[in-house]
Amino acid sequence: MGKTLKTISLVLLSAIFLIGVADEADAKKKKKKIPKKPSYVGAVKCNGSCHDPYYQAWVDSPHGKAFNLLKPGERAEAKKKAKLDPEKDYTADPQCLRCHTTGYRQKGGFKPAGSKSKKGKDISTKIDPEEPSLEQVGCEMCHSAAGGAQFRVVMKNTKGDYKKSDTEKYGQRWDYENVCTRCHNHPKNPHKKGKLDFAKATIHPIAKYFNEDNADQDIVKDGKVKDRAKETAKSEEKGLRIEDWNFKKGKLKFAKGTRPYSSKKKKFYYIK
Ligand code: HEC
Ligand code: HEC
Ligand code: HEC
Repeated sequence: MGKTLKTISLVLLSAIFLIGVADEADAKKKKKKIPKKPSYVGAVKCNGSCHDPYYQAWVDSPHGKAFNLLKPGERAEAKKKAKLDPEKDYTADPQCLRCHTTGYRQKGGFKPAGSKSKKGKDISTKIDPEEPSLEQVGCEMCHSAAGGAQFRVVMKNTKGDYKKSDTEKYGQRWDYENVCTRCHNHPKNPHKKGKLDFAKATIHPIAKYFNEDNADQDIVKDGKVKDRAKETAKSEEKGLRIEDWNFKKGKLKFAKGTRPYSSKKKKFYYIK
């Protein structure tokens, strides 16, 4: 090989190497850091690039409209049956918000109208009739132990190609049937509608919400869901604890020693 040819190939090789290093650095920069504490982020964060059909199916489902039931005049007959006042506005009533919103009284969760910061600033959750987020029973009420900020980062970093155990470490729960008892069949559920038939329940019927724009989000078709189904998550085997709560001086308080996750101890608690 001639001297000039040698120099040229050396220059080319180093250029390729440098581009490679830059790409890797870029990829590292793009990888988001996992927040230390779990926190509720709201359903809108799952929409717009990853789970649009799930979001749209949810908006059209009973859970995506559950907050609206707290308004005066809604389902008057059902309210009378449950000894509730059909004309009353329950949208800021602590007696209802745990089961009709997302993450009420937890980090990042729903804050009713009239909520103020220590400095007197209005910090209440903005209600968006077109794009509900923390109002309504959102994704995180079924999919998370303590809010979805952490496992959402894992989902994004892996582009959805994760194992159940990867997101479970950060608070995604897979004990679906168990988690419904956060609200349905709960001792403090005032409605007495009887036991929920989990096997017959449809939550977010996604099929009709796929189109050209979101076809790449079909985790059912591309096999990711199937792969995950082969794996049994720890929370599926045992079931995570469900928070117990009570009312003290008109405020909802979680009972000590009943939460499914402690961010101080970084520990999950399973049903014994
Ligand atoms: C422990 C959880 C829980 C609490 C607390 C709760 N709800 Fe509900 N609510 C539910 C669930 C779950 C349903 C769906 C029906 C069922 O299976 O019980 C529901 C359904 C409803 C419905 C529709 C009922 C029907 O038959 O059409 C209304 C209206 C309603 N809730 C209003 C309220 C109001 C107002 C409050 C506060 C005074 C409240 N809820 C407190 C869990 C709760
Ligand atoms: C009332 C509970 C509930 C709510 C609310 C809910 N989900 Fe689900 N979700 C489930 C259940 C149960 C399954 C498993 C069965 C199925 O796929 O329908 C599931 C499955 C999924 C899956 C497939 C998971 C996998 O990889 O195996 C995705 C993705 C998902 N939900 C996204 C969402 C998003 C996004 C929202 C909010 C816009 C949401 N869910 C709201 C209960 C819920
Ligand atoms: C945070 C509270 C909460 C959780 C958790 C929850 N639900 Fe619900 N669910 C509700 C409320 C409130 C309604 C009432 C909506 C309505 O009546 O329009 C409801 C309505 C429903 C309905 C419509 C029929 C009915 O009873 O009115 C089904 C089916 C259902 N839920 C299934 C489930 C399943 C399955 C799970 C667990 C995977 C689950 N839900 C978890 C609060 C919850």
